[in-house]
Amino acid sequence: MIQAPHTLVDRHGASVVRDRCRALGLGVWRLRLDGTVVESPAEQGLAGDWFRAAPLSRLVASATLQWQSDPSPGPVEVFPGCWAIPCVERVRRVRTGYTVAVALGPDALHAEQFGACCQAAALDAAAMRSLLRGRATHTPELVERTATMLGWLVEDLEAVDAQEQSLSVFSRQLAESYEEITLLYTLGQSMNQLSHPENFVRLCVRELHETLAYEWIALGFVADQRRARAMGGRLLTAGRTPLDEAGFQREIGRLVAGAAAPGNVVIAGEARGPLAQGDSQILAHPVARDGQVVGVLFAGHKLGDDPQVSSADIKLLDAAAGYLSVLLDNAFLYDDQQLMFIGTLESLTAAIDAKDPYTCGHSERVAHLAAALAQAHGLDEEQVERIRIAGLVHDVGKIGVPDFVLGKTGRLTEEEFRLIKAHPEIGFHILKDIPLMEDILPGVLHHHERIDGRGYPHGLRGDAIPLVARIIGLADSFDAMSSNRTYRSAMPRARVLEELGENAGSQFDPALVESFARVDLSRYDELVERHSGQSAAGGLRIPRAGLAA
Ligand SMILES: [Fe+2]
Repeated sequence: MIQAPHTLVDRHGASVVRDRCRALGLGVWRLRLDGTVVESPAEQGLAGDWFRAAPLSRLVASATLQWQSDPSPGPVEVFPGCWAIPCVERVRRVRTGYTVAVALGPDALHAEQFGACCQAAALDAAAMRSLLRGRATHTPELVERTATMLGWLVEDLEAVDAQEQSLSVFSRQLAESYEEITLLYTLGQSMNQLSHPENFVRLCVRELHETLAYEWIALGFVADQRRARAMGGRLLTAGRTPLDEAGFQREIGRLVAGAAAPGNVVIAGEARGPLAQGDSQILAHPVARDGQVVGVLFAGHKLGDDPQVSSADIKLLDAAAGYLSVLLDNAFLYDDQQLMFIGTLESLTAAIDAKDPYTCGHSERVAHLAAALAQAHGLDEEQVERIRIAGLVHDVGKIGVPDFVLGKTGRLTEEEFRLIKAHPEIGFHILKDIPLMEDILPGVLHHHERIDGRGYPHGLRGDAIPLVARIIGLADSFDAMSSNRTYRSAMPRARVLEELGENAGSQFDPALVESFARVDLSRYDELVERHSGQSAAGGLRIPRAGLAA
């Protein structure tokens, strides 16, 4: 049995098959599915005229249609000594027509149909026999071998095509995975921004816009402050949104308010409302905490040829929403802990300040001044906050100093002075086992050191005194000089600033004294005002003599 190339070839494969057939001396036709000739042999000269003769095209078309209706494999005899080897062309899996190779054997030159073709093309039959003799060499065995080889060629082309397709699918999957991994890596790297969840949320929206082929990305939070905390009602966007800011906020707010349960949603048709842009859909993915929706991530107006949301888009948005949920969870917990922590510290220091009515509000004012000085000195927001806490607790060790010493109106004995001087180390021991207080401890232990080494408890000098302690020491002294003390009244502001200048390089770090000149003291003055009111209300403004620590 003669095997024909019975399989399908795509447009590129069909063109390769045609080139090979022409190189083998075969006539090549292209036909539509109904047998209409699209292309006939293009060769020059009388041979071309004979191949293009209308009867031959009709015979080839008829033989091809007959072959198509009878699925048995093998070349089809067009007329005695002339065989057609057809194969089906397709475009994107749809059959579009046939490529047909025609081989001539010696018998063809003497067939009745050969003469009919010569006559139709006004060619001399004897001359044409002589011209085509060299090409009419295909015996049935040779046609069989030719058909088999074309079959193999088609199979090889199909295999290459299949490999190219799977390579293209694999490449696309690889590109998608790479984008996903890059996005998740970037987000994962930034997951530690618990004290600034908004920075992470902004990064997430920006990264999604860079990764996903959508014109805009938005993240809207529910207005409920209890559920979404500081992010409640916020809207963050990246890309070009389809409405002005107010309109976009209103529409996203409407969609966020309607998002009831976790899980992605594709918004299409009328549901898009004023956000509609052509046929494009909007992908929405709720961000949840404890099963409650706190916000919704949106990707709108997909770019490129296909406006439909793809499974890769959903997967990426899903991953980003997962990261957001985890981060917000942790950030809210961190918030709770911070509030509780600061609240506890404030209660503790208020209790200590209450031991000595002359220092009412001292810890809060030192915390404020130390933070303001740190900021003026160029420290970053995180460091400023830590120094604020250090300022708040710097005198916590006074809890271990007997009340009669702190409140003594007369001159202190050497022993009493020793007790007072122990408070930095007592404070250090009270706080040293509290987690995450490591960076606060030097401020507590060394806030009575002096640049010239004459301070306590360790007599450290210059830069050996940690910066946080130098900052608190300066803030502490400024507040002490600016407040009424047991042994003197508050000094005027100008005198206090003069004292700082005169003691720069001996008691204080000169660079910090310089930075202190840039501190805005209006908030400090408000605190003094408030605290003196509290103190007066308590009826505790009784001047006493003694030594401030
Ligand atoms: Fe102190």
